[in-house]
Amino acid sequence: MLNRVVITSGPTLEPIDPVRYISNRSSGKSGFHLANEALKRPIREIIFISGPTCYIPTGVTVIMAETALEMRTQLQRFSTDADVIIMAAAVCDYKPAAFSSQKLKKDRESFTLLLEKNPDLLMELGQHKPSHQTLVGYAAETHNIFDNAVKKFEKKNLDLLVLNEISTKNPAFGSEENQAYLVTREGVRKLDTMEKSSLAHCIWDEIFRIRSSK
Ligand code: CTP
Repeated sequence: MLNRVVITSGPTLEPIDPVRYISNRSSGKSGFHLANEALKRPIREIIFISGPTCYIPTGVTVIMAETALEMRTQLQRFSTDADVIIMAAAVCDYKPAAFSSQKLKKDRESFTLLLEKNPDLLMELGQHKPSHQTLVGYAAETHNIFDNAVKKFEKKNLDLLVLNEISTKNPAFGSEENQAYLVTREGVRKLDTMEKSSLAHCIWDEIFRIRSSK
């Protein structure tokens, strides 16, 4: 029986002014299916931390977080006691360096928007990972996908990495189906193309397998 599981989902939004933002492509479907699958497993508490999306599961504790920094604050509240953390959220790597409290008027033909780096939440979790915790991350890669994924797996101190190759054949974003790879300490396993709900089932099976072989 697991005590607590934390799943992040959806995109983060990084505001430019009161009406505009930058964001990432993410429907929130993967996180939604992971939470629904978690409900079928022996888990006492499921914390679902989500950016803005309409895919919000019921029967779990839902916490909304709009920006990467808000998501970080919520993760800090719940991460230490978590047995499993799945970072399915598409956290923005960058945010506007300054927020304009007034709406920017379109009086210039062009302008440059300065961005600054957000913290890497998954990396921070990996750096402080307690021994009882299983940490799961995602990667969306377009080239050198296995090299990049294995590097990410090591660098972020993960137990499982769900790798999506982003291509016209496998759009991943927003679609119902997906073809993914599971990267673990034992190597890389290619999964068949399947519905995201079935993929969530495979991911949870893998998490329980990793925990039982520890
Ligand atoms: N992630 C995070 N914090 C960020 C950016 C990403 O926690 N600021 C997490 C996501 O939740 C996901 C994984 O990192 O689990 C995704 O990483 P990805 O965006 O594929 O790659 P990056 O590590 O951001 O590196 P790069 O953009 O160079 O591929």
